[in-house]
Amino acid sequence: MSNKTLAIIKPDAVNNEYAGEIIDKIIKAGFKIKAMKMTRLTVDSAEGFYAIHKERPFFGELVEYMTSGPCIPMALEKENAVEDYRKLIGATDPAKADEGTIRKLYAKNIQFNAVHGSDSDENAEKEISHFFSRNELLNNYTD
Ligand code: RTP
Ligand code: MG
Repeated sequence: MSNKTLAIIKPDAVNNEYAGEIIDKIIKAGFKIKAMKMTRLTVDSAEGFYAIHKERPFFGELVEYMTSGPCIPMALEKENAVEDYRKLIGATDPAKADEGTIRKLYAKNIQFNAVHGSDSDENAEKEISHFFSRNELLNNYTD
């Protein structure tokens, strides 16, 4: 079992000024931030990141959304990180998310849903390297 996951505060949440509150919830839930940046995805980068969804009807809208403004990717570490972080954010559709979860609190709907979380250890590895170089991950005072 790996202890890493890739989180993104998506453009809607950054634009709505929820980033500080979301980061606070992540830290208070016991995750260590190993790397973090604010960046605006290019279309190429967003298409690559969500390539797994390229046949889905919402793919075009998803890429448009994820490139609409800056987002904040973070490499997080905690025991059982993938599962625990997905519990913290709640269901994809905020209408179905549990009370107190990040999506329940900050997401508008199934598309504009405030945050991303890796869905497996294997994808966490790939997604962390999508945003962060080895050096960025090593240069961290929490090590
Ligand atoms: P994520 O990858 O962003 O953490 O979200 P997830 O695993 O909970 O959901 P996933 O099925 O991977 O979907 C990726 C993102 O696509 C957008 N979406 N739109 N219009 C729609 O029906 C729809 N369904 C999904 C959301 O932004 C979702 O997080
Ligand atoms: Mg997903």
